[in-house]
Amino acid sequence: MLVVRKLMARESKSLERHLLRLSAEDRRLRFGYATSAPAIAAYVKAMDWGKTWAIGAFSGTRLCGIVELTRCDPWWAMKAELSVSVEKHYQNRGLGTRLVAEALLIARNRGFQTVYLLCLPENRPIQRIARKFAGQLTAVEGELEARIRPAQPTPLSVMMELFNDNRAILQCVLEPPKRRRSGQREPANRADPKRGSGRQPATTASTRPRPAAWRSRGAGGKPRRQFPA
Ligand SMILES: CC(C)(COP(=O)(O)OP(=O)(O)OC[C@H]1O[C@@H](n2cnc3c(N)ncnc32)[C@H](O)[C@@H]1OP(=O)(O)O)[C@@H](O)C(=O)NCCC(=O)NCCS
Repeated sequence: MLVVRKLMARESKSLERHLLRLSAEDRRLRFGYATSAPAIAAYVKAMDWGKTWAIGAFSGTRLCGIVELTRCDPWWAMKAELSVSVEKHYQNRGLGTRLVAEALLIARNRGFQTVYLLCLPENRPIQRIARKFAGQLTAVEGELEARIRPAQPTPLSVMMELFNDNRAILQCVLEPPKRRRSGQREPANRADPKRGSGRQPATTASTRPRPAAWRSRGAGGKPRRQFPA
């Protein structure tokens, strides 16, 4: 059973392990560039949890999918950017769509007016998801950009978020995640949990840590795109 719930800052190691388990190709699609392990570590370390909501799907203690909703500067523009990733073994089962839907509910309840979702032109699955929520995608600087305008919050939408939070708590109470025995570590470099411990192919990305302002999508490369105010 997958438990979908918000993550806390102290769970950032789970996020890092999840990103490391993505295949090299999925990492490239997630960040827009080939991304090395040190670049991912730097990305997670630089995350500002004060302006990021992260909703993860857990199978036991293993984070197998996550959506990050990050407030864009300046804060009063009420814009946010959304990034999502799901490990191979869990793809094409509706998890990505569900995570995006939950992130958009959070955006709606916080009063965000625009949520951006950027992807590479060859990334068909995320475009399919984006179309479910945004309708149109436009080409911007070599990427595709979906602009999603969340509806106004209502008492019902707030209740729905509360329901999601309480359902996750209840699931954890009824079926607590199994603790690993001391010394037993979560697999870090596997794209598929069923496929042994194959190592990730090396990526060509630079391993230099990037400044925090560069972290959005482009952990391996380019500065965060400035969205129009
Ligand atoms: C994008 C991603 C999150 C999707 O996760 P997922 O759990 O597989 O998503 P879903 O199952 O909810 O939906 C995938 C949709 O794409 C469709 N799809 C899958 N492969 C496809 C392809 N090659 N061409 C067109 N559509 C495709 C599926 O049929 C499904 O559509 P449906 O719901 O109408 O049937 C996942 O593929 C991933 O992590 N990719 C790497 C990271 C990434 O690209 N992130 C996005 C950039 S921020």
